[in-house]
Amino acid sequence: MHNRKNPPGHFSRLTIEMYLCLTSYFITDPAMHTSQQLTQLIERYIAGLTFPEHPSHLYAPISYTLEEGGKRLRPMLLLTVCDMYGGPVEQALPCAGALEVFHNFTLLHDDIMDNAELRRGKSAVHKKWNHNTAILSGDAMCIYSYHLLQQSPPALLPRLMAEFNKMALEVCEGQQYDMDFQFREDVSMEQYNDMIRLKTAVIFGAAAKMGGLLAGAPEKDLDLLYEFGTELGIAFQIQDDYLDTYGTSEILGKQIGGDIEESKKTFLAINALNEAGAATRRALLATFADHKLPLPHKIGRVRTIYDSLDIPRITRKIIGRYLENASGLVARLTVDEQTASPLYGIIQSLADRNK
Ligand code: IPE
Ligand code: IPE
Ligand code: MG
Ligand code: MG
Ligand code: MG
Repeated sequence: MHNRKNPPGHFSRLTIEMYLCLTSYFITDPAMHTSQQLTQLIERYIAGLTFPEHPSHLYAPISYTLEEGGKRLRPMLLLTVCDMYGGPVEQALPCAGALEVFHNFTLLHDDIMDNAELRRGKSAVHKKWNHNTAILSGDAMCIYSYHLLQQSPPALLPRLMAEFNKMALEVCEGQQYDMDFQFREDVSMEQYNDMIRLKTAVIFGAAAKMGGLLAGAPEKDLDLLYEFGTELGIAFQIQDDYLDTYGTSEILGKQIGGDIEESKKTFLAINALNEAGAATRRALLATFADHKLPLPHKIGRVRTIYDSLDIPRITRKIIGRYLENASGLVARLTVDEQTASPLYGIIQSLADRNK
C-alpha cells in the first residue's frame, strides 16, 4: 500500500537522493582535498616565495626557474600522501616547497652537466645567463630548500631532515654515475637501475615518505610509501629517457636527442647495446660518438636502430611493470582503497605522460 502523501515516484526519488548523498560522502571524503586544490596550494605557496632584488644575478635566475615551472610532481606527491592520512597539508607546504626548490636546483646544475640549452620551453639558466650564474643560483636554491624545510613542525624536523639529507646526497651520487656512464660502453641494466634510483627515484621516495611522516602515518606505511615513491620514480625516469628520444620538443619543453648527443646510458641505449648483434652495436656506438653528424640525422639513425630492436615496446613494457609494482605497494598500505585513490590517480597520470 502506498502512502498518499508519499507516492511511489516521490519516495524513490528521495531514496536516490539520500543514497547519492551518502555514497558521495564515502566516495570523496570531504576532509580530503582534490588534486586541483593541492595544485593550487603548492602553486600559491611557491608564488609567495620572494627573493631579494640584489644581487640580481643571483636571485633573478631563481625566480625565473620557479615561476610557472614544471609539473610540481614531487610536492604534489608529498601533499597527496599527507592529505590521505588526514594530515595538515598547510603545515606540510614548507616541506613540499623544499623538495620542489631542491629539485629545481638540481635542474640548474644538471643542464650545465648535460649541455642542455632548453628547459620548460625556455632557455636554461646557464644559457640565458652563464655557467657561473647557474652554479651559484643553484647553490643558493639548495640552501634555500633547507631554509624552507626548517619551517616544518619542530617535533618532526629531525626525521624530516634525516630523510632529506639522505636523499640529497644520493641524488649527487646518481648524478656522478650518470656522468661516469657517458664514457662507458659496458653499463649493465643493474648499474643503470641503481643510477636512476639515486639520481631521480629517491626524491619521489622521500616525497611520499615525508608526506606520511607529516601526517603521522604508521611506521609500516612509511617504508611502503618510500618503496612506492621509488618505484614510481624509476618508471618516471625510464619514461624521461624514452621521451628524450621519442618525445616532442614543443610538448616536453626540452631538446629532443640530448641523451643521444651526450652518449647517455639511458634505458633505451643499454637495452639496444645488449640486444644488438655485433654490427648493429658497432653502428650504434659509432653514431653516438659521431660529433660531426647533425643532431636530427643522429636522432634518425638511433631511432632506426632502436625501432629495429623493438626498444620502444620493451621500454613501455618495463615502465608498466614499475607502475604495477607501485600500485601493488599502495594496495599494501593501511588506508583503504578508496582513500588511496589519489595515489592510483598519480600512477595513471605518469603512465599517460608525454611531458
Ligand atoms: C626532470 O624532472 C628531471 C628528471 C628527473 C627527469 P621533471 O620532468 O619532473 O621536471 P619539471 O619540474 O616537471 O620541469
Ligand atoms: C635528471 O636526469 C636527474 C636530476 C636532475 C637529478 P636527466 O638529465 O635525464 O633530466 P632531464 O632530462 O635533463 O630533465
Ligand atoms: Mg638533463
Ligand atoms: Mg642529467
Ligand atoms: Mg632526461
